[in-house]
Amino acid sequence: MHNILVTGGAGYIGSHTCVELLNSEYNIVVIDNYKNSWEESLKSVQKITGRIFKYYECDIKDSEKLEAIFKKHKINAVIHFAGLKSVAQSNIFPLDYYLNNVWGTINLCRIMKKFFVKKIVFSSSATVYGDSPEIPFKEDTKKGKLSSVYGKTKLMVEEILRDIKKSDNEWSISILRYFNPVGAHESGLIGENPKGIPNNLMPFISQVAADILPELTIFSDDYETPDGTCIRDYIHVVDLAKGHILALNKILINNTFDVYNLGSGVGHSVLELVSAFEKACLTTVKYKIGPRRSGDLPMLYADTTKAKKELCFCASSDIEKMCKDTFNWQNKNKSKYYKK
Ligand code: NAD
Ligand code: UD1
Repeated sequence: MHNILVTGGAGYIGSHTCVELLNSEYNIVVIDNYKNSWEESLKSVQKITGRIFKYYECDIKDSEKLEAIFKKHKINAVIHFAGLKSVAQSNIFPLDYYLNNVWGTINLCRIMKKFFVKKIVFSSSATVYGDSPEIPFKEDTKKGKLSSVYGKTKLMVEEILRDIKKSDNEWSISILRYFNPVGAHESGLIGENPKGIPNNLMPFISQVAADILPELTIFSDDYETPDGTCIRDYIHVVDLAKGHILALNKILINNTFDVYNLGSGVGHSVLELVSAFEKACLTTVKYKIGPRRSGDLPMLYADTTKAKKELCFCASSDIEKMCKDTFNWQNKNKSKYYKK
């Protein structure tokens, strides 16, 4: 059985992927510095799967600790989620983001190389396409201008991994560009737990529906889209997690360098998401129309042909299911704030 090191495994996408890895009979070792997560999510992963695994509080920048973990466990491949992900914060604290996301990944890869572990799946983002007008985005779409440091860290890491592969063909690398992950595990035991007021749409909607926040502001309805609100490609986090297993299976067998879009391939507007949430969760979401948010693109969604063809990837959950699972998680975990 293969041993997979999962960095950032206590986080939102990491914890869901741990569940899928354990359900697919992989062994896992998890490291996380809990900067944006809690150890409890790993306990919940054990509860959901009925499987025990080792996890460590460890920063990917901490070479000594990381080496000790590689020494102790025979690792076959790494799934690398660990990273800071706030677009706004990245522009305020660029050094922290470059240090953590770029240098952290370099450090991880150096240690992997030292221990002859040359297989990695990396969490990238649709944000690397920048403001490219070629919608839907294909993996080889010419990239537009990037407005955030966060996006630049993802693109830099992609380039670093590409150079590592060029220098040593024994590496096997899969870069996954996520679109908009939402939803939660059906059990309601793991999900996304944004600190403070959420920046992203789905957790915002969910907290309005749960009376934690008074009202959603839709960032404008004057875009050139059918209902005037922006269109995005939402993907259920469990579908996304399953995509990692497919990518991992491939890098373990082949010596490869691949980039894949992981999205549903379908675009939904903000208003569509609001009404899907109301319908799926039998609730109301109070909203008003506000001004545009700077940097927002009117429409983006994925061309998923490559992931479908080469990985047999299929995002099967629709937006109703995404909304239902989000609200289930919300209600099970925010009960002290829940008034409705
Ligand atoms: P998350 O914040 O929930 O998970 C990231 C995890 O990494 C957290 O548990 C955090 O504590 C940990 N971490 C951060 N820096 C670390 C370090 N130096 N050492 C060890 N652990 C560290 O975020 P997520 O939504 O699960 O995202 C996972 C990855 O996917 C990130 O790299 C993110 O940039 C990328 N991504 C996320 C989205 C999204 O919308 N959620 C979209 C595209 C890409
Ligand atoms: C954001 C990030 C992106 C990240 C993605 C998934 C920015 C600029 N980009 O993209 O890097 O990969 O999340 O996590 O932050 N909206 C509202 N009201 C709200 C919140 C959002 O109307 O309170 C709208 C936005 O204008 C957008 C849509 O909802 O049109 C989705 O927003 P969001 O969830 O923040 O995702 P992205 O903008 O796609």
